[in-house]
Amino acid sequence: MTNRVIIGGQWGDEGKGKIVDALSRDMDWVVRYQGGANAGHTIVRDEGKIVLHLVPSGLLSKGVRGYLGNGMVIDPWALMDEIVGLEAQGVHVRDRMFVSASAHLILPYHKRRDELAESKRKRKSIGTTGRGIGPAYMDKCQRVGLRMGDLLLPLENLERKVIEKVLEANELLAALYNAEPLPSEAIAQELVVLARSLAPMIVDGHTVLAGVRQGTESVLFEGAQGTLLDLDHGSYPYVTSSSPSVGGALTGSGLPPRSLGEVNGVFKAYCTRVGNGPFPTELHAEDGEALRSIGGEFGATTGRARRCGWFDLVAARYAVELNGMNGVFITKLDVLDTMNEIKVAVSYDLDGKPLGQFPTSPEAQARCVPVYRSFPGWESPVDGARSLKELPAKARQYLEFLEKELGVHIEGVSVGPHRDQTIWTPEGVTT
Ligand code: GDP
Ligand code: IMO
Ligand code: MG
Repeated sequence: MTNRVIIGGQWGDEGKGKIVDALSRDMDWVVRYQGGANAGHTIVRDEGKIVLHLVPSGLLSKGVRGYLGNGMVIDPWALMDEIVGLEAQGVHVRDRMFVSASAHLILPYHKRRDELAESKRKRKSIGTTGRGIGPAYMDKCQRVGLRMGDLLLPLENLERKVIEKVLEANELLAALYNAEPLPSEAIAQELVVLARSLAPMIVDGHTVLAGVRQGTESVLFEGAQGTLLDLDHGSYPYVTSSSPSVGGALTGSGLPPRSLGEVNGVFKAYCTRVGNGPFPTELHAEDGEALRSIGGEFGATTGRARRCGWFDLVAARYAVELNGMNGVFITKLDVLDTMNEIKVAVSYDLDGKPLGQFPTSPEAQARCVPVYRSFPGWESPVDGARSLKELPAKARQYLEFLEKELGVHIEGVSVGPHRDQTIWTPEGVTT
């Protein structure tokens, strides 16, 4: 099997979970390398819908092993809830999921700080998921965080360490936000119980992934969030605190560049963004509402309404170039079925001047006015199509245009949420 990295090409929620589920069926490993339970990856099976936050989407296939990399920030309460919830849905992962001892822990004070910081920012809030992501990465960078490996300490040492950390956090939160203290002993005791259950999964990743390094075992990297939410390359400060783009796959897994294989992007046939920050092709009022209601554009993690807009080729080309993507997947084509006109931003107008490149400054991104090319809609359902031939000619023309402009093959087109509703096009969509 070819190794692959699957990366969100836009602002997250592109349908990565569905694509990863399909592509990982014959893989040895599926590796998450960044982020935490801010992610919500949805897979729709005959048995019902599953939303994964920390567990790699590839683990819905039996026999695939999962690894939560050192680049992740893991809320042990959320992880345990997810494992137990999956068991209730008939998916058992405990004996085939491994967690890096170097991944950082998200503790209740990280979530509290996330919420408090957001409410203090008021109008300038980022619109985070409130899962404690930013504060946990702050502790990591400050070199004061607790890691999954700490859950392997003798339990009384762990308990002591957690009490100390919560007391420190209480002081900080009181000074910064006048916040009530969190119960240090209760948190430490709960964590001790969780540590007992999670300990068998905590590993030294370098050892566990030896087969991948040696090339005898295959791997698929499952990116969370998206390129435009990347801490370094996205619309800072309206980003997440990790590196969803390709570099993160290396630092966040500890695997060498030759393990990456193909680098593939996932893009919706239009755009969405949840949370604040610039979004050049955003549609407002009823135009945005139409995409939102047809596409079911409500966050898989927080339930928030996603902002919706047309496909942005300028931003998409940036994601292709930045990550060195050599193939892409287009999802949610069916959501455009009823539109009589479909638009794509082919360039921007910035302060009266044409601009073909995605600007890195968020202030400039916010001032970009999209220049659209218009396509006639196909106005018929595509969700039953399983080959390009079965798509209406106008839908094919739309895809061919995207493929030509992105400069890489579209290797698959998703036409519905179910795991089988995909047209696989390894040779691209241009005939
Ligand atoms: P992820 O975070 O990138 O994995 O994406 P999410 O799961 O957050 O959001 C994608 C949403 O679109 C989910 O509700 C999926 O079930 C759904 N979805 C994925 N592909 C398609 C598709 O081709 N058509 C439709 N209608 N829905 C899709
Ligand atoms: P998946 O993996 C979409 C957004 C938040 C906010 C910003 C920072 O499902 O695609 P954070 O909680 O990370 O500090 O929030 O990032 N965000 C996502 N948007 N999909 C996601 O994940 C996201 N994870 C974070 O809405 O704007
Ligand atoms: Mg999502």
